[in-house]
Amino acid sequence: MTDTNKSIHGEWSSRFAFILAATGSAVGLGNIWKFPYITGENGGGAFVLVYLLCVLAIGIPIMIAEIMLGRRGRQSPINTMTALAEEAQVDPRWHYLGWLGVVAGFLILSYYSVIAGWAISYVLKAFFGGFSGADAGEISDMFANLVSSPVQLVFWHSLFIFATMAIVRQGVSGGLEKAVRFLMPTLFIILILLVGYAMTTGFYQRGLDFMFSPDFSQIDSDAILTAMGHAFFTLSLGMGAIMVYGSYLPSHISIAKTALYIAGADTVVALLAGIAIFPIVFANGLEPGSGPGLIFQTLPIAFGNMTGGWLFGVLFFVLLVFAALSSSISLIEPAVAWLVENKNMERYQACVWAGGLTWVLGVAVAFSFNIWSDVTLFDKSIFDLLDYLTANLMLPIGGFCIAVFAGWMMKQQHAKEELEMADGQFTLWRLLVSYVAPAAVFVVFLRVLGVV
Ligand code: PHE
Ligand code: NA
Repeated sequence: MTDTNKSIHGEWSSRFAFILAATGSAVGLGNIWKFPYITGENGGGAFVLVYLLCVLAIGIPIMIAEIMLGRRGRQSPINTMTALAEEAQVDPRWHYLGWLGVVAGFLILSYYSVIAGWAISYVLKAFFGGFSGADAGEISDMFANLVSSPVQLVFWHSLFIFATMAIVRQGVSGGLEKAVRFLMPTLFIILILLVGYAMTTGFYQRGLDFMFSPDFSQIDSDAILTAMGHAFFTLSLGMGAIMVYGSYLPSHISIAKTALYIAGADTVVALLAGIAIFPIVFANGLEPGSGPGLIFQTLPIAFGNMTGGWLFGVLFFVLLVFAALSSSISLIEPAVAWLVENKNMERYQACVWAGGLTWVLGVAVAFSFNIWSDVTLFDKSIFDLLDYLTANLMLPIGGFCIAVFAGWMMKQQHAKEELEMADGQFTLWRLLVSYVAPAAVFVVFLRVLGVV
């Protein structure tokens, strides 16, 4: 490898910088907002088990593949796939995989930003003492008031898109490294504190049982698809986010170890969030399956009733917003990198275009919680539809293609060169990425379609 073998957008300063950025991408609303509510909607333990299996057998091997493709291609996902298809002498249409990811990133960011907007507004609610002494009913009303207001939702959504674009404009390595370095450990500590509070509710064991005693009668093929889709979503896989970050990774850094670390951190954060939330749900007679508002209807009760709750509440929501930001920038980076490479744009111009487009779509998502709540397609609101389309369909399809490309299209010698794994580990990875992961995705799709 020579010095010229570098991305034009820059490079991470070290392996640790990459780990921070990729963990920043992975850990986000998916862990703290989405994982608990979909676990609640899908009956708990069995769902969690399927999700964990998907992370292990599908997510980790595909993450290794995605980082590896990015580092070998060294460009935006679309151009990376073009270059790698050429190198492997396979059909140039593989570059559509890059496009799929760019589109998925747009679609995800449009609703991600609306939810992140909820978190911003909760920073203020926490700051002005809104949770203090409140009971479950008051906290639920507070949430209902927020989501029923199109003006508020659009306002906070706009702020979040603006913040995302302001960071992306600077390039991904700058301030981000520092922010994530502080963010992750603090978020972790607050989650532990919340778990401590959950232990005092008298429903701790009930929460643990809900999350960890699998009852397979609770899940059907749709729940399995949701669990699998979430494994992709939470690990930022299947759309080029990790690929584009991989393209900024210096050569000679162990990809496999790095992937294990990122997936481990992501999983721990999600499980902690669930362990903190479900005891509060049961202690207050709330519904585990009450949907996307779950964390906003439960955690404020804890902050309103624990010692130091004001401080922890403010800190928690601030950190949640930062965790969302470190993910949102990776959702839009593939598009921005492509605009810079192919449309000859400056970074700031690319940000205006990419941000403007997502903003418009996000406004529609914001309305889908209130004035457009009865606009449905396939029985789903705009928000539900975008969520299903991206997390359950586009990311698994993207991940499937990444696995097939890495396992079957690329020369094995090239993959081996890039990964620098010991022989046994490499063989295990090949097995997972060539057979297990694609087959699992395929079978889950067939089941949902009712074919098997
Ligand atoms: N992994 C992020 C989260 O859990 C969401 C995300 C998905 C980010 C896909 C980038 C790409 O919140
Ligand atoms: Na995540």
